[in-house]
Amino acid sequence: MCGIIGYAGHRPAVPIIVEGLKRLEYRGYDSAGVTFAQHDELHVIRAEGKLCELETRLNGQDMFHATTALGHTRWATHGLPVERNAHPHRDPGGRLALVHNGIIENYQPLRKRLKDKGRTFFSDTDSEVLVQLIAELWTSDITLREAFSKALAQVEGTYAAALLNLDEPNKIWAARKSSPLLLGVGVGENFVASDIPAFLGYTRDVVFLEDGELVELEPFSWQVFDAATLEPLEKKVHHITWDFQAAQKGGYRHFMLKEIFEQPAVIANCLAGRVDGKALSVTLPELESLPVPAQIQIVACGTSYHAGLWGQHLLESWAKIPVRVEIASEFRYRNPLFMPDDLVLAISQSGETADTLAGMRLAKEHGVPVLGLCNVLGSSVTREADGVIYTQAGPEISVASTKAMCSQLVLLTLLALYWGRRKGTLAREVETSIITGLLGLPQVLEAELPRLRGTAQELASEYSTANSFFYLGRGPAYPLALEGALKLKEISYIHAEGYAAGEMKHGPIALIEPEFPTFALALNDALLPKVVSNLVEVQARNGRVIALCQSGFELTVDHAWEVPQVYGPLNSFLALPALQLFAYEMAVYLGKDVDQPRNLAKSVTVE
Ligand code: F6R
Repeated sequence: MCGIIGYAGHRPAVPIIVEGLKRLEYRGYDSAGVTFAQHDELHVIRAEGKLCELETRLNGQDMFHATTALGHTRWATHGLPVERNAHPHRDPGGRLALVHNGIIENYQPLRKRLKDKGRTFFSDTDSEVLVQLIAELWTSDITLREAFSKALAQVEGTYAAALLNLDEPNKIWAARKSSPLLLGVGVGENFVASDIPAFLGYTRDVVFLEDGELVELEPFSWQVFDAATLEPLEKKVHHITWDFQAAQKGGYRHFMLKEIFEQPAVIANCLAGRVDGKALSVTLPELESLPVPAQIQIVACGTSYHAGLWGQHLLESWAKIPVRVEIASEFRYRNPLFMPDDLVLAISQSGETADTLAGMRLAKEHGVPVLGLCNVLGSSVTREADGVIYTQAGPEISVASTKAMCSQLVLLTLLALYWGRRKGTLAREVETSIITGLLGLPQVLEAELPRLRGTAQELASEYSTANSFFYLGRGPAYPLALEGALKLKEISYIHAEGYAAGEMKHGPIALIEPEFPTFALALNDALLPKVVSNLVEVQARNGRVIALCQSGFELTVDHAWEVPQVYGPLNSFLALPALQLFAYEMAVYLGKDVDQPRNLAKSVTVE
């Protein structure tokens, strides 16, 4: 998501900041800005769009005396991607400037409180609240370190934040909670940044900040504190040997692998501000003014379409709303029938998929409201929809979609819970079990991912000679079977077919032979005995079977791949990364270009 870089040293700081921002471009952004103190003024220069726009603004500026500065690339979450929402944000007194990555969940009550005290806000962002809060708390009897710590104690949500102060222009204050931030330790110069590539050209000595830590850095010194108690902490300096490419990918070999491993954080991000862990309830303020739809028509393409098919199960069983799911390129040319109180739900990671946009426009021509479920703020889907729910997965760089689907599944779960509650169709015990399960998912998945990868590697070396694969599932696992097949074909170029397991004997079973293995989703649900019968039929024809299953059920297949048991359909959140990792390891084993598969584009903006 957003990128932060701060520099305190002996060289002109702004060119170093701009260079660092360029090295963070891979994180995705829609605006950028810098701040530095010079001639008794805290300058903030920002621009909408790419870094070249910022460079144009900086051209000719008198800024070369500043040897300390902060920079930021913003990937919009709250407020449109326009200049006034770009970072840094200054307090109205012009003494403090702040950059922030993350989401301040309680920004609305904080903003109201500060406004009631007479403070004026200049942006729509959650981030501006933090700098205004620090300014409010920074009274003459306390230090800025103390004010920063007090402000962080009042903030709920996630942050990596860095702060500059006009009165001490060679010093940077920074802190983190659930958003990345690290220090680069140089000679007579120190850095703070979201990621190592930002300062790799200057130093390879890195200090990894942990949640709840606050740091102060100057050209010749740095000190980390406990953000709550302000006790000084001892930190280890690590020497990094990565090259620039490896550093961008956080040490992962490919963006796809990095994005698969980001999924625990993605789930946590999707839940932030939407799930109340104490009341065990879901709030979606974006939907409060809308009536509960009588029927939903989901329109999407590719992986997003598979997410829609999965969501259909939850929306129908929990919220009792009839749901149709259609591929956007079919929907747009089909003269679909709409009923009163229908809602079209357009799902799109990029928000720029031409067919999905055409489907939305068709619905709007018929007077049907459109809700967008989208990852990219300011994209066409978000601008054209009547309402938007953001998936907040962060930029997805690998062409093959992974973490975006995970975020779509979380949001579809929340929608089913939310509408189920409003309609009174969902038993409270079920609701609380699902919410408890959701809240525990990031931890379960985090622990499980390395094991899943290990198994995927073993299986890849055994199955890489297969020419074709079946993927089978039933119920909510059927869309996962479609997704598993799509992932395998798009990055490994192995032919794969996703099928509803019950459809096998209506034709496809004729293809079964030892070189045409089956990847089955045999998860613990009411349909498991039926899936097992389908697998017996495959095995009776000498078909090899990999089955993704959960402990407690003995399966006699070639490879039973066990994932942990979680509540009900939440097991999809463990099955999905297993499918992704299997496709990934197959592609790596076969030496394919994982992040840039042939013939594919990340954003399909043409029909
Ligand atoms: C598959 C993949 C595509 C996209 C599809 C829709 O890995 O990435 O199938 O899911 O092109 O894209 P969005 O979600 O951006 O509308």
